[in-house]
Order: sequence, then C-alpha cells, then structure tokens
Amino acid sequence: MESLPTIGSGAVDRHLLVVFGATGDLYHQKLAPALYHLVRQYGLVDRCLILGVARAALGEQEFRAHSRDAIEKASPGQMLLDSPGVGPAEWCDAMMHYHQLGSDGFDGLRRRIEGIERDHGLPGNRIFYLALPPAAFGPTVRGLGASGLADGEGWTRLVVEKPFGVDLESAVALNSVLHETFDESRIYRIDHYLGKATVQNLLVFRFANPLFESVWNRDRISNVQITVAEDLGIGSRAGYYDRSGALRDMVQNHLTQVLSLVAMEPPVSFDAEAIRDEKVKVLQSIRTLTHDDVVLGQYASGRIDGRQVRGYREEPGVGEESGTASYAALRVFVDSWRWHGVPFYLRTGKRLATRLTQVAVTFREPPVPLFKSFDRSRHQGNVLFVRLQPHEGFELLFDVQVPSDHPELATKPLSFAYEEAFGDLPDAYETLLYDVMCGDRTLFVRSDEVEQAWRLYTPLLEADLRPALYPAGSWGPREADALLSSRGDGWRVRLPNGGDPE
Ligand code: BG6
Repeated sequence: MESLPTIGSGAVDRHLLVVFGATGDLYHQKLAPALYHLVRQYGLVDRCLILGVARAALGEQEFRAHSRDAIEKASPGQMLLDSPGVGPAEWCDAMMHYHQLGSDGFDGLRRRIEGIERDHGLPGNRIFYLALPPAAFGPTVRGLGASGLADGEGWTRLVVEKPFGVDLESAVALNSVLHETFDESRIYRIDHYLGKATVQNLLVFRFANPLFESVWNRDRISNVQITVAEDLGIGSRAGYYDRSGALRDMVQNHLTQVLSLVAMEPPVSFDAEAIRDEKVKVLQSIRTLTHDDVVLGQYASGRIDGRQVRGYREEPGVGEESGTASYAALRVFVDSWRWHGVPFYLRTGKRLATRLTQVAVTFREPPVPLFKSFDRSRHQGNVLFVRLQPHEGFELLFDVQVPSDHPELATKPLSFAYEEAFGDLPDAYETLLYDVMCGDRTLFVRSDEVEQAWRLYTPLLEADLRPALYPAGSWGPREADALLSSRGDGWRVRLPNGGDPE
C-alpha cells in the first residue's frame, strides 16, 4: 500500500485563525479535530495559532479543555497516545486562545488579536472563520471591516460556511455584504463535498485519463446519475431543516457541485479561476427546470437495518402538517455541445435504504447488436460507478462471454478501491482548512457559482411543490421512477456486494 501524499503542496505562512462560533457544534465536531490532525501530520505546529471567539463567558483554560475534548472524541484511544509529535493537550495549551465577544465589541477583539500577534511574533496574517448561524454573517463581517481587522499587516482571508442564502435574492444580498469588506479573492465559501478526496479526484479521473475523457460526451454516454443517499433522519435539526428541505440543504450545493465537476469542459489550466470558470459555464448551460423535472418526497415511518424509525412529521420539532421535502429527484439537461440531449438525474434523500454517494455513468449500447441471440439475462452494459463514499473507488462494468455450452453475455466489474491503494482518506475539513491556509481557492465556491445555482432552483422553491411520501428504508417515492422510465432508463447504484438494489 502506498502512503497518502501530503494533502497540499502549498506553503503555510504563520497566521492566526480566528474562529467565530467556537463554542458551537461545527467547531467541536469538525474544526477542532481537523485542525489538530493537520497540525500534527503536516508539521504546522508553529504555523497556526487559534483564537476561539464567542459570546459565552469561557475562560482560556475551559476553551482549551473544550477543544481537547473535541479532539479526543473524534480520535479516541490509541492513535493519540501512539502519535509522534505534539499531543492534543500540549497543542491546545500552547496554541489556543479564547476571546469573549463582549460590550467592547470588535474594538476589544482587535486589541486582543494584536496582543496575541505581538506576543507570538506573528506577521499579521489572519483567517476569519464564520462558524456561525447565517443571521450573524453580516454583523460579523461589518464588525471586521469597521474595526480595521479585515486589513492588517499581512494577508486576511474570510471563510464562510453554507447556507449561502436561501434563494437567489438572499444569496445576492449576502454576497454584497461580504464584498463591502472583503473582495472575492479573499473569500473562501465552504461546500464540504469539494473537500472530499473522491470529489476532487473527478477532475483527475477525467482530465488525466484520456481513455475516459475521449468517451465523456453525448455520442457515448446515455445518462448520468448522481445519488446522495443518507440513512439518517434529521435528528435534532428540525429548526434548520424544516425551513430548508432537500433542495436547499443538498441539491443547490453538494449535488450541483458534483454535477459541475462531472459535466465541465477541460479548464485552460489547473488554476482556481480557470476551473471555477468552467464550473460556472455548466450551470449557465442548464436548461430551465420545470415542475415536470422534479419529484419531491418526505419520509414516512419504516424500517432501517431492522429497526423501526419514525416518519418525518413525527420528528421532534416538526409540525404534523409539514410539507418540507426530505427527498428530491431531478432531471437536468446541460445544453452544451458535449451534453445536448443527455439527461443528468440527481437524487438525494434522508432515511433512504443506506448511506452512499455515487455517480453512475451509463454508456450507450453498441450501434449494431451482434450478440442479440446470446442469453443476455446477466448483461447490464457499460456503466462506470464512481463511489464517492463510502467504499471510495470506482467500478467499470463491461461484458464478457461466459465460458459455457450456450452463448451467454455477463457483465463484470473492473474495480479500484482507495482504501486498498492508499489507506484512510483525509477528512474533507482537513483538506479545506489546509487550502485556506495556503491561499488555494480551487475547492471553494465563487460568488457567481452560488448565485447561478440559486437561479436554477429558486423557481422550484417558489412553486411550493408537495412531497410524495416514501417509507423510511426505501429508495424514495416511486413517483421518482417516472423521471427516468419515459426514456427507458432506471435508477442505478452499486452496493458493496455488487448488487443493484432497485
Ligand atoms: C450537510 C447537510 O451539508 O451535508 C446535511 O446539511 C447532510 O443534512 C450532510 O447530512 C451530508 O454530508 P456527508 O458528508 O455526510 O455526506
């Protein structure tokens, strides 16, 4: 097994990472563990200091303990004990600070930041990470601008987490608030799907392998499917989710990002702006979606892994009449020379049969059916399954002649698994944080990309479509089959045992 290469090749300047919302879930569950792993594995111990900022009255020691706890929960046991270099306790004590945002507001924060920079001899490079509810984005960014914090001695970068608005209008408004203080080159909008190694690899898969790129078009491909299935329900997130639903929560961002990487043209270079330009062009080429192109669903009670689970409307915090969709399936046409007439089917849902994210690319059948007299009951044709998670890797299905006394075709896979080749993959947040530290914007969403994605889906959101019910543990409402069946297509995913569940 080869060891994984370092996740980035850029140099990290010494800097202060200021996390707003440092007492919240995102910091606890994702950021603190990812930062620690980055620092430990990539030798950034003296490169990155952390300042947690929140309203809570927390002492510096309490914040360090809170961070240590987060790191240990994410990586329990042996690994930390055995790990070389700095342990979580030493690291938190040496590199972490906390500031309570109080009555002295952003001026108080500026004094604190300048003090830390002076004490540690930092050159004034700053990352501001907004791990905050969206309502706090505007006031925080304005506070950074008014206090002068956004323009220090060194470079300054702003990291924003989704949701970037709830529709086109709010996304435009949010972008203009961000741009009052930070120009686009300093803004890093996180869509954590772009940090997944398998999602990034879509570019390498396509553009480093002419074998695939030469057939990646309407002449050879009959349809493309992107499935993001989750077996979990909404848990305790009703407050957010019931106002969002699957289109806002998953389709506008994660599925659309995967779609643009699958469908984009080769960029002129492997450079952030060149790549993002091509992604935007995909979104600009998408044919206007109508109500006939979408099926929404909502989970009813059902069984998952032998366990009875409640329906969406019985979840804590959800009203009995809620019309929020926990599932969405769409048929999308990219009206470009490459893709004209090829349907892209997108679907995502909560409480589906299993958790998996896959892209299935189905190739056309041969123009002349030479083997029509063969037994074809085990034939599926050429399909490429890119398994983005779990069991990361891909499988290319192809036909072979079965050695037997009667002529028969059977479909078999050629497979690649990341785990066998490279071991564990880095967490998406580690990759994205590292890229922010290096100033590489390739994996972050540009303002025009966000707005173009909202432009696509806002008419559907405004149409107030009612979701069809599906039992938890299924693959979604049967109505979604009709999106494909009129063209003779069917939903495809590949399970770890090679099975096709539908
Ligand atoms: C988040 C959504 O952005 O992505 C969640 O808000 C969803 O609802 C999650 O569960 C899925 O991410 P992943 O990495 O588990 O596929």
